[in-house]
Amino acid sequence: MAAEQAFVTLATNDSYARGAMVLGKSLRNHKTSKKLVVLIGPHVSDQSRAVLHKIYDDVRLVDVLDSGDTAHLAMMKRPDLGVTFTKLHCWTLTHYSKCVFMDADTLVVSNIDELFDREELSAAPDPGWPDCFNSGVFVFIPSNETYGRLLQFCTEHGSFDGGDQGVLNGFFSDWATADITKHLPFIYNMSSIAIYTYLPAFKHLSVHRYGANAKVVHFLGATKPWSYTYDPRQRRVRGDVAAAAHPGFLLEWWTLYSGEVVPMLMREYGDQPFCSGCEEDAGESEPVQTLMSSAERKQRWEQGQADYMGIDSFDNIQKKLDVFLK
Ligand code: UDP
Ligand code: GLC
Ligand code: MN
Repeated sequence: MAAEQAFVTLATNDSYARGAMVLGKSLRNHKTSKKLVVLIGPHVSDQSRAVLHKIYDDVRLVDVLDSGDTAHLAMMKRPDLGVTFTKLHCWTLTHYSKCVFMDADTLVVSNIDELFDREELSAAPDPGWPDCFNSGVFVFIPSNETYGRLLQFCTEHGSFDGGDQGVLNGFFSDWATADITKHLPFIYNMSSIAIYTYLPAFKHLSVHRYGANAKVVHFLGATKPWSYTYDPRQRRVRGDVAAAAHPGFLLEWWTLYSGEVVPMLMREYGDQPFCSGCEEDAGESEPVQTLMSSAERKQRWEQGQADYMGIDSFDNIQKKLDVFLK
């Protein structure tokens, strides 16, 4: 009889792996009594795996599933999210009796073990369409049978957004109306987008009584905490901070990452160069992406494989335009 309970996340590459490291640390720092599991794809480097092993109880290699649904993903302007189908693997963790899945771009700011009192499928409303749940944080019961039915659902119906959230909302389709106890309060998946659409509520509920209210921050959207750079001496995040998230939470993410995760990564990389995103080691090593030839990059663009998270990020494109227009 499977008795243990676990928090589960997913990282198919080194960028999301850094998110997973920060998430894992934040769960530990808030003294969770649950196991921590990370699902990783084959592209995660050995160094990242070594660090994940130190933070997580269980590091599992999974096949990367891809929706291949470029049309729907393009509609959401996130061609990179087909791989989020990989998330569905979490139902195969039948070693555990109940789990809480959390996106690698979430940060825990308070103990949330009480989520394990909830049933499958409990989740918070999506800020874009509140009759859908956001699949960045959800409570589920591992089951090979459910996993099989989910895969079958994908084959028969696909996903209306091209990612896992579309599939899961299609599959657990009575979430909006059937049982209010399966609606998690928004503070368990507080996305930065909502902060700006209802700023007075955010200020009222989370700034004045900060720690007591926000429990999970979700850096939803194309710009992730690791898309910025950070100056550890001045404790400042660089870039258009206000546009992406509440600066306080972004700073909290960076403080944890630079203070607790970067030292672990540095130990693993040893003498080899690596780019942590902290300004003090910028210049020592160039991000690998810049080594791609422009012809190769052009070819990737034409195949619809722009590196939106890296060299082709909005910020980088804007910088290019600025230089060009000067
Ligand atoms: N993910 C991943 N690799 C990718 C894209 C996504 O491992 O290339 C995982 C990761 O856990 C991430 C989740 O899938 O947090 C959902 O993607 P994301 O958070 O980017 O979507 P958003 O919340 O911004 O819609
Ligand atoms: C979302 C969710 C994310 C999910 C993605 C693709 O916006 O935040 O967790 O992976 O959609 O469906
Ligand atoms: Mn997310």
